[in-house]
This record gives sequence, C-alpha cells and structure tokens, in this order.
Amino acid sequence: MSPPLLTILFDCSSNIFERTWYSLVLALIKRLSPKAPPSNGLETITKNWHNPSDSTSLLSPWPKDFSRDIIPKSCHSHNDYARNIPLYDALAVGCSSVEADIWLRHDVDGNEVLLVGHTSRSLTSDRSLSALYLDPLLQILNNQNNPDPYPTEAQHQTLQPAGIFSSYPNTTTVLLLDFKEDSATLFPAVVNALEPFRQKGYLTTYANDTLTTGPLTIVASGLASLSDVTSPNTTLSRSIFLDAPLDSLSSSLYNTTNSYYASLSLSKAVGYLWAGKFSSKQVETVKEQISAAEEKGLKSRYWGTISWPIPWRMGTWKTLMENGVSVLNVDDLESAGRWDWAVCVVASFALCGW
Ligand SMILES: *[C@@H]1O[C@H](CO)[C@@H](O)[C@H](O)[C@H]1NC(C)=O
Ligand SMILES: *[C@@H]1O[C@H](CO)[C@@H](O)[C@H](O)[C@H]1NC(C)=O
Ligand SMILES: *[C@@H]1O[C@H](CO)[C@@H](O)[C@H](O)[C@H]1NC(C)=O
Ligand SMILES: *[C@@H]1O[C@H](CO)[C@@H](O)[C@H](O)[C@H]1NC(C)=O
Repeated sequence: MSPPLLTILFDCSSNIFERTWYSLVLALIKRLSPKAPPSNGLETITKNWHNPSDSTSLLSPWPKDFSRDIIPKSCHSHNDYARNIPLYDALAVGCSSVEADIWLRHDVDGNEVLLVGHTSRSLTSDRSLSALYLDPLLQILNNQNNPDPYPTEAQHQTLQPAGIFSSYPNTTTVLLLDFKEDSATLFPAVVNALEPFRQKGYLTTYANDTLTTGPLTIVASGLASLSDVTSPNTTLSRSIFLDAPLDSLSSSLYNTTNSYYASLSLSKAVGYLWAGKFSSKQVETVKEQISAAEEKGLKSRYWGTISWPIPWRMGTWKTLMENGVSVLNVDDLESAGRWDWAVCVVASFALCGW
C-alpha cells in the first residue's frame, strides 16, 4: 500500500468507523512488518560475504555475538546452495534446516570431492560441500563449544555439545543432502566427510538402541537409499537419516531409527491448489499424512509449495501450519523468517510479503 492510496482512502472516509478500521489495518501492518535483523555476527557475515571462501574466512576472528538474539524457526531453506549466500542467509533469519544437492567428482589430484549444484553442468570446484557447509559448520560448532577453561568434574560428565543458536542450544540444525547420484557412489563419500563431526559428538546418532539428538542432524534425500542408511557399516553408530516418503508411512520400513523427515511434493499429496486454498478433502489428506508422520516420530515436510503469487503462498503455508506440519519448505527466506506470516492473511487479505 503506497501513501497516496492511503491518503485517498482517508479523504474518502468521512465516516468515523471507516477511519477507525483503516487505522487498525495500519497498526496491524506496522506490527507485522519485518523487524530490523538483530545485529550479530551472522548479520555482519551476510553483509561481507562475496565468494565461497568467505564461508570460512569470515569466521576468523570468531564473532562472539554470532547468533545473538536469533530465534530458530522450523523452516527448511530449499535449494539453499543456490542463494546469494549459502547457509548464512538461512541461519541469519533463524531457519534451522538447509538443503544442498550433492555430486561426487575428482579434483586435479584425483581426490574425491563432493560438489554442490542443481545440475551436473553447474558444478564448479569452489562450490564444494566442504567449503560451503561442512567447514563453516564445524568451525561454528567448535566455537560454540569452546570449552570452559575450568570446567567442574560434573560439567565434564553432563555437558552436551551446544548448537548453533546461542539462546536455544538444544536446537538441532538439519543439513539435508539431496543425493543427485546413486547412493552407492555418494554414501561412502558422505560418511567420510562427516568423520570430524562424528569424532566431536556433534551429530544426531542412533546407537545402542538409543536416538541421541546432537547439534547437527544429517538427512539424506533424493537417490539416497534406506539400505545404505541401515547398512552394517553404520550400525555401530548411525548418523545419517533418511528423508522418508510421507505417503508410504504405513510401511513398517520407516521409523526414527533410520529416518528424520517424511516428505512429499505438495502437488503429489493433494493435486492442484487454486489460489493456495485447500478444499476440505485436501485438508483431510494433509492432516492424515501429518499425523501418520507424527505417530512415527518423523517430521513432516511438503516441498514444491507455490512461491508466487505471494497471497497464494501465504495461504498455503498458513493451512500447512494450522494442520501441524513440522517444517515449512521455503524459497523466500525473508518472508518465512522475518514476517509473522501466520497472522498475515486476515480475512483472505494478505497483509505481508508484498
Ligand atoms: C537442553 O537439554 C538438556 C537435557 O538434554 C536439559 O537439561 C536442558 O534444560 C535443555 N536446555 C534448554 C535451554 O532447553
Ligand atoms: C563399508 O566399509 C568398508 C570398509 O571400510 C568399505 O570398503 C565399504 O565401501 C563400506 N560400504 C559402504 C556401503 O559404506
Ligand atoms: C554402545 O555400547 C557399547 C557397550 O556398552 C559402548 O562400548 C559403545 O561406546 C556404545 N556406542 C555408542 C555410540 O554410544
Ligand atoms: C524400524 O524399522 C526397521 C525396518 O526398517 C525395523 O527393523 C525396526 O525394528 C524398526 N524399529 C522400531 C523401533 O520400530
């Protein structure tokens, strides 16, 4: 809404009730507007990031206010690697789940390297899983867990590693790896790449019949296979979990010992959504799928949600949240992270995100 339009509205509304209504709407818009981002290390990094090598270089010296004042949100940064600033843009708005599409290639010395990109033609040597995600994540977690120089004996025994978000140290951050090549090729490479995290106890693991949530949870999607997740190689300590098919949870194959998310394309789940509005039958379908995931302790997620027009997207998100979806798959971080979008659509009038 631009100021001239408002002026016209006010001029026309001699009626006191209309005036009151417009000032209420204005107050609502003001309340819902994105707040200025908190000033912290993440904010500084997103201002200064120019190329992939900055993902680690900007962490030295360590900004002690790295994630200060950030409230983590159940949002999943879809195709995160394709953003202007991978990882940090999402963390800066509190998105606690990021996605990278991965491929196995060899560098000039013949060493295996995992690269991130949507298609094989878009791969470049500087955009590796290590450079954009694993190296910075390890450095962030190491700094967040910088040991107290004089811990007590009790602290030695009980302290769990802290997560990325300082005020919410128990929040796990999810790195979803979308396998673009077959599981047999990628799985062993991913297991190797995660070794430093495993040694530090940073990963969510399933071991000795117990699921322990760590500051980082690795989920494998795309061509990743259940048999690799549960292979004897990983039985001792399983730390890569599957993105289970949300419409196949009646099968006894998937549970929290091997899976974390349960996902489905929204159009596959309910078909076409006109104007982001669900019919009562479509709402029922979504409810059933979400509660099937809940019963198994898995986190439901729908991908392929419409991103434009914005009121359609807001309507879709709102219905999914109202029906208890665990995590929102988002392309537009600004809208998802900064707007209080759940109350953005008032009487079918979208107030946010324009
Ligand atoms: C984090 O989890 C531990 C147990 O694992 C609990 O004692 C602690 O209170 C939790 N902290 C917060 C901030 O929820
Ligand atoms: C299992 O471990 C062995 C020995 O480390 C290795 O050769 C094999 O490729 C691994 N298999 C998988 C599926 O990771
Ligand atoms: C599982 O239990 C065995 C025997 O108690 C122990 O040696 C091992 O460290 C445990 N593994 C993990 C990952 O906790
Ligand atoms: C989880 O699923 C696997 C099959 O993939 C099954 O063998 C196992 O018993 C199940 N575990 C629990 C605790 O339900």
